[in-house]
Amino acid sequence: MRSDVIVVGGGVIGLGIAWRCAQRGLGVTVVDPSPGSGATWTAAGMLAPTTELHYGEQALLALGLESARRYPAFVAELEDATGIEVGYRRDGTIVAAWDAADLTGLRDLQEFGRTLGLTTELVTGRELRRLEPALASGVPGGLIAADDCQIDNRRLHDALVIALERAGGRLVRERAASVSGDRVTLATGDVLPAATVVVAAGAWTGQLDGVPAGAVPVHPVKGQTLRLRQSGDVQLRHVVRGVVRGSPVYLIPRTNGEIVVGASSEEAGFDLSPRAGAIYELLRDAQALVPVLGEATFDEVSTSLRPGSPDNAPMVGPTSVAGLVVATGHYRNGILLAPVTADGVAELIADGALPDALAPFTPSRFERASA
Ligand code: GLY
Repeated sequence: MRSDVIVVGGGVIGLGIAWRCAQRGLGVTVVDPSPGSGATWTAAGMLAPTTELHYGEQALLALGLESARRYPAFVAELEDATGIEVGYRRDGTIVAAWDAADLTGLRDLQEFGRTLGLTTELVTGRELRRLEPALASGVPGGLIAADDCQIDNRRLHDALVIALERAGGRLVRERAASVSGDRVTLATGDVLPAATVVVAAGAWTGQLDGVPAGAVPVHPVKGQTLRLRQSGDVQLRHVVRGVVRGSPVYLIPRTNGEIVVGASSEEAGFDLSPRAGAIYELLRDAQALVPVLGEATFDEVSTSLRPGSPDNAPMVGPTSVAGLVVATGHYRNGILLAPVTADGVAELIADGALPDALAPFTPSRFERASA
């Protein structure tokens, strides 16, 4: 059976695209041997365009804000279609300074954000602890980013699988061996024909046979997250992040009592083994910010590969192979950027052009740069 669209990769990016395409009446197939087991599974679910802001990444900020703006409707539609509550929680984010120098850095970042129209509030340590009593007594102050929030990425993925199937899409749990603009060949040898093929295989996108060599410069950035469980005194209410002695850490409390602690960042190729030192550092730094965390129950460590790109922004759009589209390179923002990517790729396939929001993020920008 020929599909209108085959999406290789069943994480939130691939499934979001597939769901939006199926809603437009296209015949959609998603190919993935283990959907959602990569970066989607390890992610913490922070929707944080403001507190992920880095100098020089203004275009990425605009894309993140646009996707954040779409999130309430995206979630409402998804929950309505599936009956799954996806843990979209809008309690804001606290960025805790570790020391006075860190507080100065946050003040500079706040000022930079202000020039870009972002609103954050710089408060004292006492005010932060009034909001979040579990914070360490030595925290001298920090930022409150009221608009940065969170979603339970695993429930989001569960919902997308169901929404896709209810919209008429199909999921083939096999590995893709190669792609071209009009077919996907599975590792079993079966060939699935399609009008358009979208590769949304995260860090592996550039490795897939048929994706033009060097045209999609995605690279793996290993990340580890921990899942703890609130117990007794550990009652965190807000997303808390900080940089403890130069080492970034964040804690995300879910309504079900889970606390996700993240995330390490390592250039280690395609190695997926959990590293003891990274786990130690995450626990050490998280506990430095929230001392009572030591009482939490330890549930899980998860490791996956962020799809990194040369400018930290995604690569979404056509390739030099007719019919072959990619959607990868979302790096630290895959969950955040899922709605805007899904809408944009569905529009590209249905109407023939990427919307303005995604136009600066095609993979061809790197060809232009190297020329
Ligand atoms: N979005 C946070 C991270 O990649 O660790």
